[in-house]
Amino acid sequence: MHNMERTLILVKPDGVQRGLVGEIISRFERRGLRLIGLKFMNVSQTLAEEHYAIHRGKPFYPGLVSYITSGPVVALALEGTNAIVAARNTMGVTKCHEAAPGTIRGDLGLEIGRNLVHGSDSVENGEKEVALWFRPEELVSWTRDVDRWIFEGA
Ligand code: RTP
Ligand code: MG
Repeated sequence: MHNMERTLILVKPDGVQRGLVGEIISRFERRGLRLIGLKFMNVSQTLAEEHYAIHRGKPFYPGLVSYITSGPVVALALEGTNAIVAARNTMGVTKCHEAAPGTIRGDLGLEIGRNLVHGSDSVENGEKEVALWFRPEELVSWTRDVDRWIFEGA
């Protein structure tokens, strides 16, 4: 289908600790994105460093790696038309205090270093990050009965 994309979403340790897993997953689910992978896990130092490789050398990098490894996370692989941009708009901008009301960060957070969620930022990174966080056998390929009411071409 045209514009069918994959995105990796993480509920970061603050979202898990604050009991917001259901609230956050629910927003993506209601948006219409199709779940293809879901797990609850601790993040190893190696995975954190690989995931945030693009930020290596930046001043906030050490804090970023210690934040994502500070407690368990929920990883979601989602699929949908325009999934990358749709998911990022549902999340809100990086700085929670500037994020629009109605978004996850704008409704639930205050600070950039406690911004609750991660979402892939390009189609290419969506594919790469889903492959980094999920083994092929952990991804579920399925058709939702409701797909044709969400994806016009389905
Ligand atoms: P994410 O990767 O987590 O979805 O967030 P993002 O695309 O909106 O932001 P990105 O630029 O990729 O930065 C990744 C995460 O690093 C932390 N950060 N801190 N203190 C700072 O200046 C700063 N800049 C970024 C945030 O936790 C951000 O989500
Ligand atoms: Mg990013």
